[in-house]
Amino acid sequence: MLVLGIETSCDETAASVVRDGKTILSNVVYSQVVHNKYWGVVPELASREHMKTIVPIVRGALGEAKVALEKVDGVAVTYGPGLVGSLLIGLSFAKSLSYSLRIPLIGINHIEGHIFANFLENLQLEPPFVCLVISGGHSNLIYVADKGEYELLGRTRDDAAGEAFDKVAKVLDLGYPGGPIIDKVSKEGKADFVRFPRAYLEEGSFDFSFSGLKTAVAIYVSRLSQEKLERHRIDIAASFQEAIVEVLVDKGIKAALLKKAKNIALAGGVARNSRLRDRVESEAKKHDLKVFYPSPILCTDNAAMIASAGDFRLSRGERSSFDLNAIPYAKLC
Ligand code: KG4
Ligand code: ZN
Repeated sequence: MLVLGIETSCDETAASVVRDGKTILSNVVYSQVVHNKYWGVVPELASREHMKTIVPIVRGALGEAKVALEKVDGVAVTYGPGLVGSLLIGLSFAKSLSYSLRIPLIGINHIEGHIFANFLENLQLEPPFVCLVISGGHSNLIYVADKGEYELLGRTRDDAAGEAFDKVAKVLDLGYPGGPIIDKVSKEGKADFVRFPRAYLEEGSFDFSFSGLKTAVAIYVSRLSQEKLERHRIDIAASFQEAIVEVLVDKGIKAALLKKAKNIALAGGVARNSRLRDRVESEAKKHDLKVFYPSPILCTDNAAMIASAGDFRLSRGERSSFDLNAIPYAKLC
């Protein structure tokens, strides 16, 4: 089955053609740069960019896959969570394709898409497993009992992990988006330069809280002289990264042990983080757990993951009707 995936939930306009849920024939992603000077996504600008780029992006995905529109068997599209104006562009476009081509439409939860990014490359990954879905908009710890069967173990109570990276990068004047920059500069920094707080919350809780850490960095920086800040900027970045990574890894491993899962998977933009990957690998080894994560392009928002989840749901006979609406706060579980 050939599925065309469409993803426009935030600031990436993306389209992809995937065969049988696993073979990526194309994966075209346009990351909107218009937001960079505002240090964050401006929703109205994001919708306008999606409107301008959706046609060339879908054309590009079909062209790269060498698949004619008439050969597509189904359309999968993100219906939420995300920015309502952005979601509506992809959703309306997918509906019009489904209607005019008389092919089935399936709405996909963006978080389920991130989880499915793992199945695209890691053919050995089988549920049950624990998945850390960590990105700019969400931070969830999910138990994947089976494909399509999820249990929410924990979620962020305030900022998402990626949001914390972006905000701390702003405090440190490092640029936007902050995650990749902090990741890069931290390789040269001293991760034990400052011991920032680790928020573990109540005993046994799998929830996260990152806003206190972000504030701690901001207060620390506000008390430094300009000269000391210049000298230690990357040490502070590395120390922040260490604090966030430690909590993510610790909770992820504990959750896997509690659920007696043999595997732990990472997903979402923050899953690209090199320190996180190293640390989860080394901690998992101690507990005989296997670690899985997608390649970088499949961690950040993309449409191949949406097509893959779409293939799974379409194959089960699921269909969405044309009254499917965009749901900004859609829950997966
Ligand atoms: O999954 P994604 O593309 O969008 C959302 O669904 O939110 O994730 C984007 C987020 C941004 O906050 C970005 O700073 C973060 O992922 N990110 C990283 C890295 N690469 C991207 N965070 C830490 N380390 C990275 N290498
Ligand atoms: Zn995402």
